[in-house]
Amino acid sequence: MSEVRLDGVRVLLGVGGGIAAYKSADLVRRLRDAGAEVRVVMTQNATRFVGALTFQALSGNPVRTSLWDESAEAAMGHIELARWADQILIAPASADLLAQLAQGRAEDLLGTLVLATAAPVSVAPAMNQQMWAHPATQGNLEILRQRGVLVLGPGSGSQACGEVGEGRMLEPVELVGQLVAGHRPQVLAGLRVLVSAGPTFEDIDPVRFIGNRSSGRMGFAIAAAARDAGATVQLVAGPVGLATPAGVERIDVRSARQMRDAVIQRAAANDIFIAAAAVGDYRPEACAPHKLKKSGKPLALELIQNPDILAEVSALPDRPFLIGFAAETEDLERHARDKLQRKGLDLIAANQVGESQGFESSENALLLLWADGREQLAQADKATLARRLVEHIALRLQARAKAQSAP
Ligand code: PMT
Repeated sequence: MSEVRLDGVRVLLGVGGGIAAYKSADLVRRLRDAGAEVRVVMTQNATRFVGALTFQALSGNPVRTSLWDESAEAAMGHIELARWADQILIAPASADLLAQLAQGRAEDLLGTLVLATAAPVSVAPAMNQQMWAHPATQGNLEILRQRGVLVLGPGSGSQACGEVGEGRMLEPVELVGQLVAGHRPQVLAGLRVLVSAGPTFEDIDPVRFIGNRSSGRMGFAIAAAARDAGATVQLVAGPVGLATPAGVERIDVRSARQMRDAVIQRAAANDIFIAAAAVGDYRPEACAPHKLKKSGKPLALELIQNPDILAEVSALPDRPFLIGFAAETEDLERHARDKLQRKGLDLIAANQVGESQGFESSENALLLLWADGREQLAQADKATLARRLVEHIALRLQARAKAQSAP
């Protein structure tokens, strides 16, 4: 499928007052490189950080900084500008600007445009980590989210104020990537997708457990790709330290049995279940109530088998379309085909795993197998691979619908 860009998309970039405004100059360039037409509106505070001339030169369009500029209003009135936009992106969005937007105040041009537009609005917050964590800021964000505003980031790391934590504006390349994602073909529009991701931990005692090397990246990327394809996504996540993709409902679990319960509760209400989690096949028969002490002798752990979540979902009377994964260290296709049949799946995504392969790494390759076909998805970063997998799932669903409607 051809790479999605922003060709012809009219992006109104709102620049708020914050030191991250300097990154927004680069953001304009990258938006234009992706094919977007860009107009910039700056708040008065933003002009203290970067000159309007910079944005004018980069966007190729006049920059607006005030609601009361008569000649600018005569050229393109603020309501016209609000209608012009296909997309409003506010970057950086300071704590104060978020508060203004949450209250719906039209005291300046940007606030007025956000009220007057029918276009989707995204904000890229940027502020000191304490300001970000403040309940007032989080409350304002919640209000905005409920109104359908997409919150992009923030990232975490060292900040201009010298502190370290959450509150850094996402890099321009990431922001453009997220806007592009919103313009992908909605191949799963209206569908509900359940994804499992990450490892499970099986406790031995209060401080030790049996786990595996899954980082959760593959499953999280799939959840984001399904969301970008228009699906409503629930993500059952094992113990991983990854940020939840925006707009995805996340359910955190630790053990295989907790994952089983979370999945079984939700499976029948979903159209598709994608099982990317690396579920522990065995667990200690009992978790010791206290930390096990060294005894000088070998320690034997009695392991019992965990429930097979996929097989259970497959046996449900009203089961969703089922995509399993197969993580193999040898004989990939044979073992994966066996799992496809044994677990009654519609599709299986097989990956070779080993040291820095499949697990943990940022890239992967998948061999897709279904009852009468196969397709190799070549090595790529997990976000790209997840998109290809989602596109393929949409094709398989279409094929099934066609077969079911055939006389
Ligand atoms: O998380 P990453 O670091 O990004 O790595 C990605 C991945 C390698 C973990 C992922 O691509 C992957 O292969 N996930 C499945 C790993 C696995 O457990 O494979 P399996 O062959 O053991 O299991 C087959 C299928 O049955 C899987 O869909 C698994 O979720 C499911 N299963 C397994 C055991 C069990 N008790 N219940 C299950 O539902």
